[in-house]
Amino acid sequence: MSDPTEQEPTEISRDNPLLAGQTASLQPQPCSFVIFGGAGDLSRRKLLAGLYNLAVDGVLPANFCVIGFARTTLDDEKYRELARESIETFSRRPIQEPYWTDFVRRLHWVSGPFNEPDAYASLRDRLEELEPNFGIPCNRIFYLSIAPSLIEVSLENLKSAGLISDPADTSRFSRIIVEKPIGQDLESAQSINATLSKVCDESQIYRIDHYLGKETVQNILAMRFANAIFEPLWNQKYIDHVQITVAEEVGVGTRGNYYEEAGALRDMVQNHILQLLCLTAMEPPWSLKDEVVRDHKQEVLNCLRPIQPHEVDDHVVRAQYGPGYVRGADVPGYRREANVAPDSSTETFIALKCYIDNWRWAGVPFYLRTGKCMAKRASEIAVTFKAVPHVLFNVDPAVALEPNVLVLRIQPDEGLSLRIASKLPGSKMQIYPVKMDFSYGSTFGSQSPEAYERLMLDVMAGDATLFMRRDAVETSWSWVMNVLDSWQSSGARWLPEYRAGTWGPVEADRLIEGDGRKWRTL
Ligand code: BG6
Repeated sequence: MSDPTEQEPTEISRDNPLLAGQTASLQPQPCSFVIFGGAGDLSRRKLLAGLYNLAVDGVLPANFCVIGFARTTLDDEKYRELARESIETFSRRPIQEPYWTDFVRRLHWVSGPFNEPDAYASLRDRLEELEPNFGIPCNRIFYLSIAPSLIEVSLENLKSAGLISDPADTSRFSRIIVEKPIGQDLESAQSINATLSKVCDESQIYRIDHYLGKETVQNILAMRFANAIFEPLWNQKYIDHVQITVAEEVGVGTRGNYYEEAGALRDMVQNHILQLLCLTAMEPPWSLKDEVVRDHKQEVLNCLRPIQPHEVDDHVVRAQYGPGYVRGADVPGYRREANVAPDSSTETFIALKCYIDNWRWAGVPFYLRTGKCMAKRASEIAVTFKAVPHVLFNVDPAVALEPNVLVLRIQPDEGLSLRIASKLPGSKMQIYPVKMDFSYGSTFGSQSPEAYERLMLDVMAGDATLFMRRDAVETSWSWVMNVLDSWQSSGARWLPEYRAGTWGPVEADRLIEGDGRKWRTL
């Protein structure tokens, strides 16, 4: 019998025998999808395009409508034009009939300021008018794609307008999607969370971290727990260290105002990178139920060793990009970007070393780095295994063997590779490192859905696995606060600079080289 995995790379059909018997995902339920900030940047770039792609895939519920809601004066027709333009610009697939005709009739607009109770009365009236037409029970999703300062007032107004249903009422649902940043620090995150829990139940809240919706990030769990060969080695006995890199080519662009208040630690580490760390380091969950997976991830955060004030200088490097070139284009340097202070001390790069104090990871350093305007857009998790014993092929310390490295590539060239040692052909016994490589693109052919597509669908299905629970947000903040507080009290004004288009400052190299290791070249 031929092995079905030896077929030519192709799009895998749902009828493929290898998929037989696997659990189907949850079903999206009929609902109204209200986008606060419906004409804003995120809505135009990701949400409208994402919903349209879900429509093309035929996975949206048949009973479904969208309402864009914001102060902007628009009407249904104008909103539909804006949606068409946004989808033409940002969608991974072009506008196609008959999908577009069916999708566009579902789009509607309600104008009103978020702090005005009357606006919510209009929103409620519109929902009550549209829902019977589309056969939607009172199932409502409110996507808060708005500034953090508007979250509280919006939630209170939703509640007063009677738009948040009782979580115990199974005949209807209200679900709230909250975008990052959830707070600026632990205190503000706690305050947003406190408001959320005043207005609704934790089961109604979906805090987005879009990294969790990326296909390859979800594949970390599949790779670890659907294969027998990795898990026995996945611990301090066999692993030397782990590197997590999220490198971006882009600078701050038009987001200077936001970024000045954030910086790389708040913008990327507190959320995306710590989530990658959790998935890499968590214990095997006993089920894929949302609470079980989230409990297991939370344990990793609970075990993250706090970086003490006296350790910050040794364990953490921050820096700012200076003038340089990225992909041949001139970059002015962070302090000369729009809406950035000329003497800004906001970091655009961070590298740090941390430890997870539990049985599995005792003594294994995790090196994390992320930055803007770096040499290349590349995100990966690299697990470096310990050296084989110093006998046979590894006797001479001057020519030590390269260790095994398992790399999970998150983007852009999604896949997985494993470096192993092999004999070089010839009469001598010479060992050479070779790479086994799996690439999503060449194996599965089709384009992966965008993270937001998956996440919006999960909210429609009521599956919170890929969303941040309150405790995860707050524990991550409290870990990050050790570093932020220490920076705050040191008051440093001038950070090390790295040339735009490079891999960061020399101080980051020293951080890891001091431990006898090296950053991977990506
Ligand atoms: C966002 C950050 O959360 O993630 C941005 O605010 C960053 O600064 C972006 O550029 C990176 O996301 P992705 O999906 O492009 O890797």
